[in-house]
Amino acid sequence: MADSRFEKINDLFINYSQGNFDYKVKPSSKLDEIDAFISSINMLGEELKATTISKNYFNNIFQSVSDIIFIMKKDGEILDLNHAGFALLKYPSEKLGAINLFHLFQNKNELVDFKNQLNKFDLVINMHVKLKDKNGKVFECMISVNKIEDKGKKAAEYQGIIKDMTKEKEAENLVIRTIVDTQEKERERFAKDLHDGLGIPLSGLRSYIDSLTSKTSDEKMLETIAKSKNAINYVVNELRNICFNIMPRTMKQFGLIGAISELHEKIESMWNLKFKISASKDFSISNIPLEIALFRIVQEFVNNAIKHGKAKNIIIKMQQDRKKTIITLKHDGVGFEYNKSREFDGMGLQNVRSRVSSYDGEVEIKSAVNKGTTYQITLPVKTNTE
Ligand SMILES: Nc1ncnc2c1ncn2[C@@H]1O[C@H](COP(=O)(O)OP(=O)(O)OP(=O)(O)O)[C@@H](O)[C@H]1O
Ligand SMILES: [Mg+2]
Repeated sequence: MADSRFEKINDLFINYSQGNFDYKVKPSSKLDEIDAFISSINMLGEELKATTISKNYFNNIFQSVSDIIFIMKKDGEILDLNHAGFALLKYPSEKLGAINLFHLFQNKNELVDFKNQLNKFDLVINMHVKLKDKNGKVFECMISVNKIEDKGKKAAEYQGIIKDMTKEKEAENLVIRTIVDTQEKERERFAKDLHDGLGIPLSGLRSYIDSLTSKTSDEKMLETIAKSKNAINYVVNELRNICFNIMPRTMKQFGLIGAISELHEKIESMWNLKFKISASKDFSISNIPLEIALFRIVQEFVNNAIKHGKAKNIIIKMQQDRKKTIITLKHDGVGFEYNKSREFDGMGLQNVRSRVSSYDGEVEIKSAVNKGTTYQITLPVKTNTE
């Protein structure tokens, strides 16, 4: 007759395969080899229970954190992703095999930096990048990745964490915009004080001096009066230029295009430079601080074009569709070996970048020796009406 203990062993395995690790079989009184085998399987049940509990424990952590946690292959293919990952990246969980981290990068340069670090050190710590979800919505985040040391596995795997920085970035942008806006308001007040405080008395002085012309026929006196008038005209003109640079009045009346046109007139008359300005139909920026920020960027570009670029021609192109505003600033001239590491950036270019970034925009600078320089500024249109 068959030993009934084999049936019990069979039951044990069925229970374990169903995750029922508390199921036990009592050894018989024979205490022979088969009973020793039963005792070993009972112990195996205990082991399986312990490892399942710790696996569940880690799985719970993995799934409950609000940051994205993922496992990926070296080529960026995501092998595992927690709930937050699926939610933030807007992928349904059955699409796991279709997600590749490298394809989520919005910015080519950031992807190149990321891959370089990964290749060199098998480690990336807190890198700020822009990723896009399945619907193309871009979000700011901080990513860290490190290699999983598992000698048993042939292909290297990496674990990583992505922290959504949207809220932090919004707060930071708001601070930058508020600081810049306060400075611009102060400049506006200063330009107005300067214009009214000096401009009005200077005009008065000019008319007094003018009135002296009819009071004398002395040649020397008339010559001095003419020189004084020229000197005053020069001062009035300089004062106007200073006030314009501090804050152009045309901006309030005619907006960005008006202010850029005035800048063009002033620069063309002072320097041997040709300007070409074009704007797409209905181009408009309805947010005044953003308009001022863009004017400052054009000012910086023109200053750099004259100071460093030895430019002869400047082209300013303003384009807009429903989604984006693109401003392309281009000049010929000496150009420079601009590389992406930003080692060239002085205060001027840093200010350009921080102003644009505080409106969620992007700046791309292209330059090559003797080929001139181009700055391209891209801004999402939503910021125009915020
Ligand atoms: N249009 C350009 N043509 C040639 N070189 C340029 C141009 N724009 C910038 N550069 C180079 O990049 C550097 C950094 O420019 P940036 O405007 O940041 O600083 P800066 O003009 O030297 O000083 P500032 O802070 O007063 O603007 C310049 O010193 C120059 O070497
Ligand atoms: Mg500069």
